[in-house]
Amino acid sequence: MPAPDSAPKGLGYITSALTAPVSPVEAALRPLSFSDFTGQPKTVERLQVMVGAAKRRGDALNHILLSGPPGLGKTTLAFILGNELGKSVRVTSGPVIEKAGDLAGLLTNLEEGDLLFIDEIHRIPKTVEEYLYSAMEDFRLDIMIDQGPNARSVRLTLPRFTLVGATTRSGLLTAPLRSRFTLQTRLDYYDRATLEGIVQRSCGLLKVAIDAGGAREIAARARGTPRVANNLINFCRDFAQERATGEITQPIAARALELLEIDAAGLDEMDKRMLRVMAENYRGGPVGMSTIAMAVSEEAETLEEVHEPFLIQEGYLQRTPQGRVLTAKGYHAVGLKPTTGEPGLLL
Ligand SMILES: Nc1ncnc2c1ncn2[C@@H]1O[C@H](COP(=O)(O)OP(=O)(O)O)[C@@H](O)[C@H]1O
Ligand SMILES: [Mg+2]
Repeated sequence: MPAPDSAPKGLGYITSALTAPVSPVEAALRPLSFSDFTGQPKTVERLQVMVGAAKRRGDALNHILLSGPPGLGKTTLAFILGNELGKSVRVTSGPVIEKAGDLAGLLTNLEEGDLLFIDEIHRIPKTVEEYLYSAMEDFRLDIMIDQGPNARSVRLTLPRFTLVGATTRSGLLTAPLRSRFTLQTRLDYYDRATLEGIVQRSCGLLKVAIDAGGAREIAARARGTPRVANNLINFCRDFAQERATGEITQPIAARALELLEIDAAGLDEMDKRMLRVMAENYRGGPVGMSTIAMAVSEEAETLEEVHEPFLIQEGYLQRTPQGRVLTAKGYHAVGLKPTTGEPGLLL
């Protein structure tokens, strides 16, 4: 069996960057309009079409579900929708809405055409979810007040609002809820060139000196994620100040990111621990995510939301009905050779 406690504890820099609350710096770097937002061409075009049509008709925008791994721009796009429509965006998140009354409070405070942004919408309690159906469909809410013999239902008429839901786990959304979104659109990891542009843009806004090589290096190691890129910029800036002339060049960025134990492909300590555990303890799988999670002492949910999508997309591991399987590229990433024996013997 693996020994979780003896596993090296890395900085977990990327993981914490992806799960920490929004910092003021992050808010300052948010693009505010479609023209300022690069990448995600399909999603952006779908949203532009809907915004254009809603404006022309003077209608509220239809409900939209944005899905995809953390840090790719879901919250940013929700605010852009508000800006482009000239409407307010009220922000909340699934687990915060505990009962129907909370939802009623949010919805009745909206103006005609406003947006309600529900982050982590897959974590909304089931009892509240049912109220959302009629709110989204008919713009009304029938809620029960009082209890026992005095219990009665009150109908609230709502302004025509737009629900923008965001989720890292669209698979966890129930079919009835999902079907009430007119548009369901998924954000993908950014390619290097787009990310390089984002790094340049962020450095410009933060007045950080960086050359083309430095931007390329950060983009290559940011695992396709703008939020990670922005966090790496911050560390590289500190490193350049303390250990060099202040400008982020390619060698400086490379040294700074080595110090964070982020390798040339952007894999961090936790990614590598997952791959190593699969190779060394489970002969490359198939192995279940909860088993991997225990072996690396991390929550299965975090691994599934933050680490696995990137590892799959880059071809380090595969998902099969029996569990996760390490690929040859996955073995090589941790300096090992694929085993030739029967896979899954230790499962
Ligand atoms: N297309 C983009 N261009 C520039 N910066 C972006 C882009 N997408 C995201 N970002 C940056 O990444 C950070 C995280 O984006 P956010 O919308 O909070 O991600 P999510 O809600 O999907 O987790 C934001 O601060 C923003 O500055
Ligand atoms: Mg967000």
